[in-house]
Amino acid sequence: MAHEFIEHLLEDHEEQRQMGEEIRHAMDLDERKELWEEFYEELSGHLLGEEASIFPFLQEVGGETTMEADKALQEHHVAKLLIRELQDVSMDGDTWLAKVKVLDDMNRVHIDAEERIHFPKLVQLCTPDQLDDLFEQYEEAEEEAEEEETI
Ligand SMILES: [Fe+2]
Ligand SMILES: [Fe+2]
Repeated sequence: MAHEFIEHLLEDHEEQRQMGEEIRHAMDLDERKELWEEFYEELSGHLLGEEASIFPFLQEVGGETTMEADKALQEHHVAKLLIRELQDVSMDGDTWLAKVKVLDDMNRVHIDAEERIHFPKLVQLCTPDQLDDLFEQYEEAEEEAEEEETI
């Protein structure tokens, strides 16, 4: 049984995969709006949560682990750029749909890499107490993200 923080992150990823699948097939505008709100909330909290917890920790490790964390943070940066652009583009147009597909495609590659590289590294390097602390930092940032208008 994995630590509850890792379980939480994996559950978030599963939700993101399902939401991404739904949103790219939603052709009705009201449905898109509703799904986008859910996807946005899930993704923004998760991105900011990870940026406040696992990645600062992994960046401190050094070597390949630091380089992989740097890369993941750049992927977060690009995801945020796309999210901001999506909020400025008309939701009933083809451009919005194309952009949301790119966001979903990129996010899938990103979360697969987190599960393959970063989470096992955390489990290897952290004591359960350290994972508790990282979970706390994650949740604080996630809560703050909910209060923000945009990421
Ligand atoms: Fe991430
Ligand atoms: Fe993640």
